[in-house]
Amino acid sequence: MINNFTYNTPTKLVFGSGVIKDLPNVLKEYGNNVLLTYGGGSIKKIGLYDEIKTLLKDFNVYELNGIEPNPKYDPSVLDGARLCRENNIDVILAVGGGSVIDCSKAIAVCALYDGEGWDIISGKVKAKGAIPLVDVLTLAATGSEYDSGAVISNTAINDKRGYGSKYIFPKVSFLDPRYTFSVSKWQTACGTADAINHILEQFFQETPSIINDGLMISVIKSLMANVSVALNEPDNYEARSELMYACSLACNGILSNGCSSSGWPMHSIEHALSAFFDITHGAGLAIITPHWMEEILSDRTLNRFMVLGNELFNIRVNTKEDAKLVIKAFYDFFKGIGISMHLKDLGVDSNKIEEMATHILENDSTVGNYMYVNLDKDALIRILKASM
Ligand code: NZQ
Ligand code: ZN
Repeated sequence: MINNFTYNTPTKLVFGSGVIKDLPNVLKEYGNNVLLTYGGGSIKKIGLYDEIKTLLKDFNVYELNGIEPNPKYDPSVLDGARLCRENNIDVILAVGGGSVIDCSKAIAVCALYDGEGWDIISGKVKAKGAIPLVDVLTLAATGSEYDSGAVISNTAINDKRGYGSKYIFPKVSFLDPRYTFSVSKWQTACGTADAINHILEQFFQETPSIINDGLMISVIKSLMANVSVALNEPDNYEARSELMYACSLACNGILSNGCSSSGWPMHSIEHALSAFFDITHGAGLAIITPHWMEEILSDRTLNRFMVLGNELFNIRVNTKEDAKLVIKAFYDFFKGIGISMHLKDLGVDSNKIEEMATHILENDSTVGNYMYVNLDKDALIRILKASM
C-alpha cells in the first residue's frame, strides 16, 4: 500500500562525463561572488581544482579549504559563514564528498543568521533562508548532493547532528563519475555501505509495496554488483556511474514515497559513534547493520527478511533461523568489500557504550511511534556490544 506523501526535490542533477563545462552558466544565475569550498586536497590531486579555477576565471572566487570528514562546526562552518558575510558571497560552490557538501549547506544557512549557528543546526532555531549552493560531487556515498540534509560535528560538546531544511537542497549538482576514479578502496567500500544502509533504513517499515520494495532492491543490487567491479578496476566508468547514480537515489526519499516511517535507527547509533570517535560513517553503519537486524528480528519483521533473502541472496526465508542466514550474508558482503566488522578496529572504546546509548536516546531518540522497532537503552547497549 502507498500511504499519503508529498515529494519535492528541487535539485537539478546534471550527470555524466564532461558536464562541468556548464558550471559558469549555472553559477552566473546567482551572481559573481563565489565561495569555493573543498576538503583536504583530493580535488587538487585529480586536477579538478585547476579545471574549476579555469572555468571560473571571470568570477570573484574566495576559498574555504581543509573541510574534514565528519565536518566540524568549529572551525569550518564558522569560518565559511564569516567568509560569506565579509565578501558578500552570492553562491557557494562545494567540490568534494558528503562532508564538503554538508559543511557548505550549514555555512549557507548560518551565514544568514546573526546568532549562534549551532542553534540552527541543533534545531533550536528555524532557518529563514540560505545562500544558494551548487556542488560538484567527487565521492559516491551520502546522497547529500540530492537531499536536504547536512550532518555536522561539534567537537566541543561531543555531538554530531543531522540537520534538515528545504533551504539547503543544492540548486544544481554536477555528477561526473570520472571524478570518483581516484576514490580509495576504503572510501569506495564505505560509501557503498552507507548507501546500502540508507536503503535498508527505509526498507524496514510497516507498509511495503511492490513499487517501493522493487525500487529499493534494484538500487541495492546495483550497489552490490558495481562496488566489486569498482574495487578491482577503479577507473571502470560503467561501475562508477551506477554507483554514483545509486547513491544519489538512496537518500533523498524517492525510494520510499508512501512508505511508513522507520526512524533511521542505525544512523542514530552511527552518528553517536562518529561524534565520540570520529570514525568513517559508512564503516560504522556496515558494522552495526547485522547486529541491528539481529536485535529487531521477530515474527513481525520476518517478512522483510524474506524479501531481502529471496531477491539479493537467493535464500528462502520461512523461519527466524532462515533470516539469520540473510543477516550473515550482509555481514559477509560488507567484510568481503574490505570493511573490518568490529568497532574496536576503528578505535571505538567499549567503556563508552553506556554513555553513547544515553546520548543517542537524549539527542536522537530511538523510541517513539515513528520507529519501526523501538530501541530502548538496553537494546542500544546490546547492539553496540555485539558490534565491538
Ligand atoms: O578531504 P579530501 O581531500 O577531499 O578527501 C576526502 C576525504 O578524506 C576523500 N575524497 C573525496 N573525494 C575523493 C576523495 N579521495 C580521492 N578521490 C576523490 N575523488 O574521501 C574522504 C572522505 O570524504 P567525505 O566527504 O567525508 O565522505 P562521504 O561522502 O562519505 O561523507 C561522509 C559525511 O556525510 C555525512 C556523514 O555523517 C559524514 O559526516 N552524511 C550525510 C548525509 C546527508 N547529507 O544526507 C547522509 C549520510 O547518512 C551521512 O550521515
Ligand atoms: Zn548515511
